[in-house]
Amino acid sequence: MDKQKFYITTPIYYPSDKLHIGHTYCTVATDAIARYHRLRGEDVMFLTGTDEHGQKIEDKAKEAGVTPQEFVDKIVCGERGVLDLWKLMNISNDRFIRTTDSYHVAAIQRIFKKLYDNGDIYKGTYKGKYCKPCESFWTESQLVDGKCPDCGREVQDAEEEAYFFRLSKYADKIQDLLENTDFLQPRSRVNEMVNNFIKPGLEDLCVSRTSFTWGVPVDFDPGHVVYVWVDALSNYITALGYENDQYDDYAKYWPADVHIVGKEIVRFHSIIWPAMLMSLGEPLPKHVFGHGWLLLDGGKMSKSKGNVVDPYILAEHFGVDALRFFLMRTFPFGTDGNFSNELLIQTINTDLANDLGNLVSRTTAMVGKYFGGRLPEGCGSWDAPESFDTELIAMASGLRAKYEEAMDAYAPHKALDEVFKVIQRANKYIDENAPWALAKDMEANGKRLAHVMYNLLEATRICAILLTPFMPESMDKLFQQIGAGEDCRTWDSAAVWGSLSDTAAPTKGENLFPRVDMDKALQELEEAAEAAKKAALPDIELEPQLTETVDFDTFCKSDFRAVKVKACENVKKSAKLLKFTLDDGTGTDRQILSGIAAYYKPEELVGKTLLAIVNLPPRKMMGQESCGMLISAVHTEKGEEKLNLIMLDDRIPAGAKMC
Ligand code: MSP
Repeated sequence: MDKQKFYITTPIYYPSDKLHIGHTYCTVATDAIARYHRLRGEDVMFLTGTDEHGQKIEDKAKEAGVTPQEFVDKIVCGERGVLDLWKLMNISNDRFIRTTDSYHVAAIQRIFKKLYDNGDIYKGTYKGKYCKPCESFWTESQLVDGKCPDCGREVQDAEEEAYFFRLSKYADKIQDLLENTDFLQPRSRVNEMVNNFIKPGLEDLCVSRTSFTWGVPVDFDPGHVVYVWVDALSNYITALGYENDQYDDYAKYWPADVHIVGKEIVRFHSIIWPAMLMSLGEPLPKHVFGHGWLLLDGGKMSKSKGNVVDPYILAEHFGVDALRFFLMRTFPFGTDGNFSNELLIQTINTDLANDLGNLVSRTTAMVGKYFGGRLPEGCGSWDAPESFDTELIAMASGLRAKYEEAMDAYAPHKALDEVFKVIQRANKYIDENAPWALAKDMEANGKRLAHVMYNLLEATRICAILLTPFMPESMDKLFQQIGAGEDCRTWDSAAVWGSLSDTAAPTKGENLFPRVDMDKALQELEEAAEAAKKAALPDIELEPQLTETVDFDTFCKSDFRAVKVKACENVKKSAKLLKFTLDDGTGTDRQILSGIAAYYKPEELVGKTLLAIVNLPPRKMMGQESCGMLISAVHTEKGEEKLNLIMLDDRIPAGAKMC
């Protein structure tokens, strides 16, 4: 029998800035759902990628002095870029699409032409505001105080020839799709779409631009590039081979089972995307799920203050699985949640170190201590079960069904909640049975003790199977520790109590989830973030050269001389100043004060030949006179100002003029 197919996608990410923990949340959630479907034995296609066109990228590349392609290549493929991040986070995508991939670009041109040929794209005029010096078009709402958001100058009314997509034509059909089917989830997002966007009247959508070039060119009308959302949304089908020969999976996987997207882009996925597909005559995806945002103090994540939101730092510090788990366990998937480093540490300590970690380490340690590491045959059954035996067994046996219901409703947080109810029940079961008391008389209680141990291992095994989509690597280790072979790590065996051999041989291994010291960890995170910030700074930064010229005669008025340091000392009560006594060749000592105490010790400068300008008017500093100025070279290195005195060849006599 053919395996059931499951096609799931994440949004494709803008490689305009570094990805933060909010982006990671979306991808980890999709990954956990994809892994869940694989665990069930389905044929899964999981797609993610990057959305690389548009004015924003073009502008950022210009700012960085590189081409747009170079700019996106670095963020997508470079060190600690998007690909590295998904590898680190153990994301199991089957395919990765970049909208700059040539097969996608060619497919977009064909899709655009198809929409045009069937009459749904027409040429019109895009009306907006124009900033002449910046050569930029803006909409009214993009302006800041009515002025250009880039340079702050006045803008003028302008028109640009553009293509439009007949979105209005599909308004009724889309409203019906949203209101009368389960296409858009959670249900709460439906009213938002219908009331805010459809009922006020859907306008036709501007789908080409001529004011910038970093996009897919409209091949039948040079000068126009395809609107970035038409380009981006189509990735879900071009990545399967729609209108291209790169892949051949369109018939197999389309329509998608679900597009997982953040709430702010639900509009594009539940209105524009279905309308495009209707126009192309292609089936619609089965579901769009709009998840909430991770916020910082109720605000946007990009404005991070105080909390570390860099997923690299967090994963390196706490472990990839702990981070994946935290994201899925803590925030109900359909709504917003407040992220904080404290909450992350608390969750690790409570759920992973205390509840799950302790259950595993206590159980495996006790099997080692009381049974030499192997349970006796027959311990899986017990003639007269206690009420707590039956309760634990019933909870663990019924767990898979509850978990499945939650996962199928895109509620991974609920699925994890069910798993942790069983883990907590199992910990209570240890206390109820007091194995340490039973162990005092092994002859009388040995059999009972073995049965208790078996029940604990079996409950843990079932939980571990269901935790695998969230923490794949740690669960692999956990299975080894409890002695669960491949055959009892399967989806089927998660619903069958007693799948674990009753002669299982668990071994107490490494501590899977060490407890985190809150204060120490917060301090270390701050330091790591500071170091990362510094590492991202340019190695060398130079003062820009002055463009204003100085005429030669004026320049010649500056008297630069070689001077020899006869004595040098710190100026009392000043952290900055050094006082130099200099031989300037005149026979009379010259005194110069210089604010370089942070860079040099006085004694290391005595005897050196330096460069000074000697005809500046004398100046008093800290009550002492300074007659001239020593010349130094300055630059910035990793954000820190560096200063080097200009040192001359000691063969140059004091007083020699520099010209
Ligand atoms: N390029 C578009 C998507 C095109 S899909 C055809 C885009 N990219 S994005 O990089 O800005 O965002 C990618 C995803 O990350 C979106 O689903 C967005 O909601 C999600 N998140 C960005 N910040 C987030 C949080 N703070 N919290 C949760 N998800 C967040 O939009």
